[in-house]
Amino acid sequence: MKVHSSFETLYTSSEISEQVSRVAFEITRDYEDRCPLLIGVLKGSFVFMADLIRLLNIPLEVDFVKVESYGSSTISSGVVNFIQGLSSSIEGKEVIVVEDIVDTGLTVNHLLSSIRDMGAASIRLCVMFEKQLKRGFLVPIDYLGMTVPDKFVVGYGLDYKGQYRGLSNLQILELH
Ligand code: XMP
Ligand code: MG
Repeated sequence: MKVHSSFETLYTSSEISEQVSRVAFEITRDYEDRCPLLIGVLKGSFVFMADLIRLLNIPLEVDFVKVESYGSSTISSGVVNFIQGLSSSIEGKEVIVVEDIVDTGLTVNHLLSSIRDMGAASIRLCVMFEKQLKRGFLVPIDYLGMTVPDKFVVGYGLDYKGQYRGLSNLQILELH
């Protein structure tokens, strides 16, 4: 059976950049004279991370973890797999976890508790998109880009079956 899909622009690239700039301003203000370690959650966060760090006016380090909860579906599997860990120790570091999107909160919830166990000096959470109507885990987001409706979205790093990450707008993907 052929799958038909349609796209609708939710946020334009200029609306996104305006909010990324605001988040960068907030982090720059809060981390003045510190050197945070930004940990991006792959793959989705790489576009946001690249834009964000170029707007941060502070010394910083970057690392990535690879986590998978959805597989190739649009519905959370409820299981989080850590596929690739951090490249060096985070003990004593001021960590900022950088995530593309929080839906149920399951993924970041797991990640934050693992990072806490690894001895970070402090941990904050920076999320580009938060889905409204979250079911499940309450996660405190310290820096938030934008909220999105409870629909599947692609673009700005977010994918469906590996595609559409390079779209500079955020699009709602409808499959029918
Ligand atoms: P949870 O439910 O754990 O989900 O908060 C977060 C992870 O699921 C992915 N995710 C999406 N990916 N469009 C995507 O391309 C979406 O609308 C979407 N919602 C959740 C994402 O990888 C995130 O890390
Ligand atoms: Mg994904």
